[in-house]
Amino acid sequence: MTDPIPVYLDCDTGVDDAVALAYLLRSPHVDVVGIGTVSGNTSAAQAARNTLDLLGLAGVDSIPVAIGAHHHSSHEYAGGAAHVHGDNGIGGVELPRSAREPEDVTAVELLIDLSHRYEGRLHLVTIGPLTNIIEALAADPTLPTRIAGVATMGGAASVPGNITPVAEANIFNDPAAADALLTAEWDVTLVPLDATMEHTLSEDDRVTLAEASDPLLRAVGAMLDHYFEFYLPTYGVRTSALHDPLAAVIAAGGTTITRGPRVPVRVDTTHGPGRGQTIADLRGQRLGDRDHPEARTRVVLEVDGSISAHLMEVLTGERP
Ligand code: RIB
Ligand code: CA
Repeated sequence: MTDPIPVYLDCDTGVDDAVALAYLLRSPHVDVVGIGTVSGNTSAAQAARNTLDLLGLAGVDSIPVAIGAHHHSSHEYAGGAAHVHGDNGIGGVELPRSAREPEDVTAVELLIDLSHRYEGRLHLVTIGPLTNIIEALAADPTLPTRIAGVATMGGAASVPGNITPVAEANIFNDPAAADALLTAEWDVTLVPLDATMEHTLSEDDRVTLAEASDPLLRAVGAMLDHYFEFYLPTYGVRTSALHDPLAAVIAAGGTTITRGPRVPVRVDTTHGPGRGQTIADLRGQRLGDRDHPEARTRVVLEVDGSISAHLMEVLTGERP
Protein backbone atom coordinates (compact mmCIF):
# COMPACT_ATOMS: atom_id res chain seq x y z
CA MET A 1 0.00 0.00 0.00
CA THR A 2 1.27 3.44 -0.92
CA ASP A 3 1.84 6.05 1.78
CA PRO A 4 -1.28 7.97 2.86
CA ILE A 5 -1.72 11.35 1.16
CA PRO A 6 -1.47 14.46 3.38
CA VAL A 7 -4.76 16.36 3.31
CA TYR A 8 -5.79 19.85 4.35
CA LEU A 9 -9.57 19.82 4.89
CA ASP A 10 -11.53 23.06 4.51
CA CYS A 11 -15.02 22.67 5.90
CA ASP A 12 -18.13 24.28 7.38
CA THR A 13 -18.77 21.43 9.82
CA GLY A 14 -22.20 20.57 9.26
CA VAL A 15 -23.60 17.10 9.29
CA ASP A 16 -22.25 15.78 6.01
CA ASP A 17 -18.92 17.47 6.74
CA ALA A 18 -18.84 15.39 9.95
CA VAL A 19 -19.45 12.20 7.98
CA ALA A 20 -16.68 13.17 5.55
CA LEU A 21 -14.30 13.95 8.43
CA ALA A 22 -15.01 10.61 10.12
CA TYR A 23 -14.33 8.85 6.81
CA LEU A 24 -11.04 10.70 6.23
CA LEU A 25 -9.90 9.95 9.79
CA ARG A 26 -10.61 6.24 9.27
CA SER A 27 -9.24 5.92 5.71
CA PRO A 28 -5.80 4.26 5.57
CA HIS A 29 -5.08 6.23 2.40
CA VAL A 30 -5.34 9.67 3.98
CA ASP A 31 -3.42 11.59 6.64
CA VAL A 32 -5.41 14.67 7.67
CA VAL A 33 -2.65 17.14 8.58
CA GLY A 34 -4.78 20.23 9.11
CA ILE A 35 -8.35 21.51 9.13
CA GLY A 36 -9.58 25.01 8.39
CA THR A 37 -13.16 26.14 8.90
CA VAL A 38 -15.32 28.63 7.05
CA SER A 39 -18.82 29.92 7.63
CA GLY A 40 -21.50 28.15 5.65
CA ASN A 41 -23.73 25.57 7.33
CA THR A 42 -22.81 27.32 10.58
CA SER A 43 -20.25 29.96 11.57
CA ALA A 44 -16.57 29.30 11.09
CA ALA A 45 -16.09 29.45 14.88
CA GLN A 46 -18.90 26.96 15.54
CA ALA A 47 -17.59 24.73 12.76
CA ALA A 48 -14.19 24.71 14.48
CA ARG A 49 -15.82 23.83 17.82
CA ASN A 50 -17.77 21.03 16.15
CA THR A 51 -14.61 19.77 14.44
CA LEU A 52 -12.53 19.78 17.62
CA ASP A 53 -15.26 17.95 19.52
CA LEU A 54 -15.54 15.34 16.76
CA LEU A 55 -11.76 14.88 16.82
CA GLY A 56 -12.03 14.45 20.58
CA LEU A 57 -14.58 11.67 20.15
CA ALA A 58 -12.23 10.09 17.61
CA GLY A 59 -9.40 10.21 20.12
CA VAL A 60 -7.39 12.42 17.75
CA ASP A 61 -5.60 15.38 19.32
CA SER A 62 -2.78 15.95 16.84
CA ILE A 63 -4.60 17.65 13.95
CA PRO A 64 -4.52 21.47 14.07
CA VAL A 65 -7.88 23.16 13.58
CA ALA A 66 -7.86 26.82 12.55
CA ILE A 67 -10.79 29.19 12.22
CA GLY A 68 -11.11 30.79 8.80
CA ALA A 69 -13.41 33.29 7.21
CA HIS A 70 -16.55 34.29 9.10
CA HIS A 71 -17.85 36.48 6.26
CA HIS A 72 -17.59 35.65 2.58
CA SER A 73 -15.70 37.70 0.05
CA SER A 74 -18.75 39.42 -1.40
CA HIS A 75 -21.28 39.35 1.44
CA GLU A 76 -21.65 38.90 5.17
CA TYR A 77 -22.36 35.51 6.69
CA ALA A 78 -26.14 35.23 6.85
CA GLY A 79 -26.53 32.83 9.74
CA GLY A 80 -26.12 29.36 8.28
CA ALA A 81 -28.57 26.59 7.43
CA ALA A 82 -30.16 25.53 10.72
CA HIS A 83 -33.12 24.03 8.87
CA VAL A 84 -30.69 21.60 7.22
CA HIS A 85 -27.87 21.13 9.73
CA GLY A 86 -29.46 22.21 13.01
CA ASP A 87 -28.81 25.29 15.15
CA ASN A 88 -25.27 24.19 16.03
CA GLY A 89 -24.43 22.82 12.59
CA ILE A 90 -24.44 19.17 13.69
CA GLY A 91 -28.09 18.36 13.96
CA GLY A 92 -28.47 19.83 17.43
CA VAL A 93 -26.36 17.00 18.86
CA GLU A 94 -24.46 18.13 21.95
CA LEU A 95 -20.98 16.60 21.87
CA PRO A 96 -18.65 16.30 24.86
CA ARG A 97 -16.51 19.43 24.72
CA SER A 98 -12.93 18.69 23.75
CA ALA A 99 -10.29 20.35 25.90
CA ARG A 100 -8.61 21.56 22.72
CA GLU A 101 -9.12 25.04 21.29
CA PRO A 102 -8.59 26.29 17.74
CA GLU A 103 -5.05 27.24 16.72
CA ASP A 104 -4.00 30.85 17.19
CA VAL A 105 -3.41 31.13 13.44
CA THR A 106 -6.03 31.56 10.74
CA ALA A 107 -7.06 28.83 8.31
CA VAL A 108 -5.23 30.69 5.56
CA GLU A 109 -2.01 30.78 7.62
CA LEU A 110 -2.37 27.09 8.44
CA LEU A 111 -2.96 26.15 4.79
CA ILE A 112 0.04 28.15 3.54
CA ASP A 113 2.26 26.72 6.29
CA LEU A 114 1.18 23.16 5.43
CA SER A 115 1.76 23.79 1.72
CA HIS A 116 5.42 24.44 2.55
CA ARG A 117 5.70 21.59 5.04
CA TYR A 118 4.22 19.08 2.56
CA GLU A 119 5.45 20.84 -0.56
CA GLY A 120 4.24 19.10 -3.72
CA ARG A 121 2.33 16.45 -1.74
CA LEU A 122 -0.47 18.34 0.02
CA HIS A 123 -4.01 17.72 -1.23
CA LEU A 124 -6.80 20.20 -0.56
CA VAL A 125 -10.24 18.79 0.15
CA THR A 126 -12.79 21.60 0.27
CA ILE A 127 -16.34 20.87 1.43
CA GLY A 128 -17.62 24.33 2.27
CA PRO A 129 -17.67 27.79 0.71
CA LEU A 130 -14.28 28.66 -0.79
CA THR A 131 -13.54 31.94 0.95
CA ASN A 132 -10.41 30.64 2.70
CA ILE A 133 -9.04 29.47 -0.62
CA ILE A 134 -9.42 32.83 -2.40
CA GLU A 135 -7.84 34.51 0.62
CA ALA A 136 -4.95 32.03 0.58
CA LEU A 137 -4.41 32.61 -3.15
CA ALA A 138 -4.38 36.37 -2.54
CA ALA A 139 -1.95 36.01 0.37
CA ASP A 140 0.37 33.71 -1.58
CA PRO A 141 -0.16 33.45 -5.35
CA THR A 142 2.50 30.72 -5.47
CA LEU A 143 0.31 28.38 -3.39
CA PRO A 144 -0.85 26.25 -6.38
CA THR A 145 2.76 25.36 -7.20
CA ARG A 146 3.02 23.42 -3.93
CA ILE A 147 -0.37 21.64 -4.08
CA ALA A 148 -0.69 18.11 -5.47
CA GLY A 149 -4.42 18.36 -6.15
CA VAL A 150 -7.75 19.82 -5.13
CA ALA A 151 -11.02 17.98 -4.53
CA THR A 152 -13.98 20.30 -4.14
CA MET A 153 -17.56 19.48 -3.30
CA GLY A 154 -19.63 22.08 -5.07
CA GLY A 155 -21.60 23.17 -8.07
CA ALA A 156 -24.17 21.71 -10.41
CA ALA A 157 -23.21 21.03 -14.03
CA SER A 158 -26.36 19.62 -15.65
CA VAL A 159 -28.77 19.38 -12.70
CA PRO A 160 -30.63 21.99 -10.66
CA GLY A 161 -28.98 23.76 -7.78
CA ASN A 162 -29.99 23.27 -4.16
CA ILE A 163 -30.01 26.84 -2.88
CA THR A 164 -31.33 28.50 -6.03
CA PRO A 165 -32.65 26.88 -9.22
CA VAL A 166 -29.10 26.94 -10.65
CA ALA A 167 -26.67 27.33 -7.73
CA GLU A 168 -25.31 24.87 -5.20
CA ALA A 169 -24.75 26.13 -1.62
CA ASN A 170 -20.94 26.06 -1.37
CA ILE A 171 -20.59 27.98 -4.62
CA PHE A 172 -23.51 30.34 -4.00
CA ASN A 173 -22.10 31.38 -0.64
CA ASP A 174 -18.99 32.78 -2.33
CA PRO A 175 -19.13 32.75 -6.15
CA ALA A 176 -16.02 34.87 -6.61
CA ALA A 177 -14.02 32.51 -4.40
CA ALA A 178 -15.27 29.50 -6.33
CA ASP A 179 -14.34 31.11 -9.64
CA ALA A 180 -10.87 31.88 -8.29
CA LEU A 181 -10.41 28.24 -7.24
CA LEU A 182 -11.58 27.00 -10.64
CA THR A 183 -9.26 29.31 -12.58
CA ALA A 184 -6.09 28.94 -10.50
CA GLU A 185 -3.11 26.98 -11.82
CA TRP A 186 -3.89 23.65 -10.15
CA ASP A 187 -5.82 20.50 -11.00
CA VAL A 188 -9.31 20.49 -9.51
CA THR A 189 -11.66 17.54 -9.18
CA LEU A 190 -15.07 19.18 -8.87
CA VAL A 191 -17.73 17.00 -7.21
CA PRO A 192 -21.10 18.60 -8.05
CA LEU A 193 -24.69 17.75 -7.24
CA ASP A 194 -24.83 15.78 -10.49
CA ALA A 195 -22.92 13.04 -8.64
CA THR A 196 -23.53 13.72 -4.95
CA MET A 197 -27.34 13.59 -5.11
CA GLU A 198 -27.06 10.03 -6.44
CA HIS A 199 -25.36 8.77 -3.26
CA THR A 200 -27.41 8.33 -0.12
CA LEU A 201 -27.30 6.53 3.22
CA SER A 202 -30.19 4.35 4.37
CA GLU A 203 -32.01 4.54 7.69
CA ASP A 204 -30.57 1.09 8.46
CA ASP A 205 -27.07 2.46 7.92
CA ARG A 206 -27.88 5.44 10.11
CA VAL A 207 -29.16 3.20 12.90
CA THR A 208 -26.03 1.03 12.60
CA LEU A 209 -23.96 4.13 13.20
CA ALA A 210 -26.21 5.50 15.96
CA GLU A 211 -26.07 2.17 17.85
CA ALA A 212 -22.33 1.61 17.37
CA SER A 213 -20.07 1.20 20.38
CA ASP A 214 -17.75 3.79 18.87
CA PRO A 215 -18.63 7.29 20.23
CA LEU A 216 -17.69 9.04 16.97
CA LEU A 217 -20.01 6.82 14.93
CA ARG A 218 -22.80 7.21 17.50
CA ALA A 219 -22.52 10.99 17.20
CA VAL A 220 -22.56 10.86 13.40
CA GLY A 221 -25.61 8.57 13.46
CA ALA A 222 -27.41 10.95 15.80
CA MET A 223 -26.61 14.00 13.64
CA LEU A 224 -27.94 12.27 10.55
CA ASP A 225 -31.35 11.93 12.21
CA HIS A 226 -31.96 15.70 11.81
CA TYR A 227 -30.39 15.71 8.33
CA PHE A 228 -32.62 12.85 7.16
CA GLU A 229 -35.71 14.81 8.10
CA PHE A 230 -34.60 17.66 5.85
CA TYR A 231 -34.21 15.34 2.87
CA LEU A 232 -37.53 13.50 3.34
CA PRO A 233 -39.43 15.74 0.85
CA THR A 234 -36.57 15.44 -1.66
CA TYR A 235 -36.19 11.68 -1.70
CA GLY A 236 -39.60 10.63 -0.32
CA VAL A 237 -37.89 8.49 2.34
CA ARG A 238 -35.64 9.23 5.31
CA THR A 239 -32.17 9.42 3.81
CA SER A 240 -29.65 12.07 2.87
CA ALA A 241 -27.38 12.97 0.01
CA LEU A 242 -23.71 12.23 0.67
CA HIS A 243 -22.28 15.48 -0.72
CA ASP A 244 -19.11 15.92 1.34
CA PRO A 245 -18.52 12.20 1.91
CA LEU A 246 -18.41 11.64 -1.87
CA ALA A 247 -15.73 14.32 -2.26
CA ALA A 248 -13.79 12.68 0.60
CA VAL A 249 -14.11 9.20 -0.92
CA ILE A 250 -12.92 10.50 -4.29
CA ALA A 251 -9.97 12.32 -2.70
CA ALA A 252 -9.03 9.10 -0.84
CA GLY A 253 -9.22 7.03 -4.01
CA GLY A 254 -12.10 5.03 -2.57
CA THR A 255 -14.06 4.93 -5.82
CA THR A 256 -13.54 5.12 -9.57
CA ILE A 257 -14.75 8.09 -11.58
CA THR A 258 -16.71 6.62 -14.50
CA ARG A 259 -17.80 9.94 -16.04
CA GLY A 260 -15.54 12.91 -15.37
CA PRO A 261 -14.67 15.08 -18.37
CA ARG A 262 -11.95 17.68 -17.90
CA VAL A 263 -13.63 20.85 -19.11
CA PRO A 264 -13.54 24.58 -18.44
CA VAL A 265 -15.80 25.61 -15.55
CA ARG A 266 -16.61 29.22 -14.65
CA VAL A 267 -18.91 30.66 -12.03
CA ASP A 268 -21.54 33.33 -12.54
CA THR A 269 -20.45 36.06 -10.12
CA THR A 270 -23.11 38.54 -11.23
CA HIS A 271 -26.04 39.46 -9.02
CA GLY A 272 -28.77 38.19 -11.29
CA PRO A 273 -30.81 34.98 -11.16
CA GLY A 274 -27.82 32.98 -12.33
CA ARG A 275 -25.57 33.99 -9.43
CA GLY A 276 -23.47 31.08 -8.18
CA GLN A 277 -24.13 28.87 -11.20
CA THR A 278 -21.20 26.67 -12.22
CA ILE A 279 -21.01 26.90 -16.00
CA ALA A 280 -19.30 23.73 -17.18
CA ASP A 281 -18.61 23.60 -20.91
CA LEU A 282 -20.07 20.17 -21.62
CA ARG A 283 -20.53 20.79 -25.34
CA GLY A 284 -19.13 17.92 -27.38
CA GLN A 285 -19.85 15.30 -24.74
CA ARG A 286 -22.62 13.42 -26.61
CA LEU A 287 -20.29 10.65 -27.79
CA GLY A 288 -18.57 10.24 -24.44
CA ASP A 289 -16.24 12.14 -22.16
CA ARG A 290 -13.97 14.41 -24.12
CA ASP A 291 -11.32 16.46 -22.32
CA HIS A 292 -10.61 20.03 -23.33
CA PRO A 293 -6.82 20.30 -23.88
CA GLU A 294 -6.36 23.37 -21.70
CA ALA A 295 -8.88 22.56 -18.94
CA ARG A 296 -7.64 21.64 -15.46
CA THR A 297 -11.02 20.93 -13.83
CA ARG A 298 -12.40 17.38 -13.89
CA VAL A 299 -16.16 17.50 -13.37
CA VAL A 300 -17.34 14.30 -11.69
CA LEU A 301 -20.67 13.32 -13.22
CA GLU A 302 -20.67 9.68 -12.12
CA VAL A 303 -18.63 7.22 -10.07
CA ASP A 304 -18.62 3.42 -10.13
CA GLY A 305 -21.70 2.33 -8.22
CA SER A 306 -22.87 3.58 -4.82
CA ILE A 307 -20.31 4.66 -2.22
CA SER A 308 -22.53 3.85 0.76
CA ALA A 309 -21.20 0.31 1.31
CA HIS A 310 -17.59 1.52 1.04
CA LEU A 311 -18.34 4.46 3.33
CA MET A 312 -19.89 2.20 5.98
CA GLU A 313 -17.02 -0.29 5.69
CA VAL A 314 -14.39 2.37 6.30
CA LEU A 315 -16.41 4.03 9.08
CA THR A 316 -17.23 0.82 10.96
CA GLY A 317 -14.25 -1.30 9.95
CA GLU A 318 -16.68 -4.07 9.06
CA ARG A 319 -17.35 -5.51 5.63
CA PRO A 320 -21.13 -5.54 4.88
O1 RIB B 1 -24.62 21.79 -1.18
C1 RIB B 1 -24.06 20.86 -0.28
C2 RIB B 1 -22.89 21.45 0.42
O2 RIB B 1 -23.31 22.59 1.17
C3 RIB B 1 -22.26 20.50 1.45
O3 RIB B 1 -20.89 20.80 1.59
C4 RIB B 1 -23.00 20.85 2.71
O4 RIB B 1 -22.24 20.54 3.90
C5 RIB B 1 -23.12 22.34 2.56
O5 RIB B 1 -21.89 22.92 2.97
CA1 CA C 1 -20.00 21.23 3.84
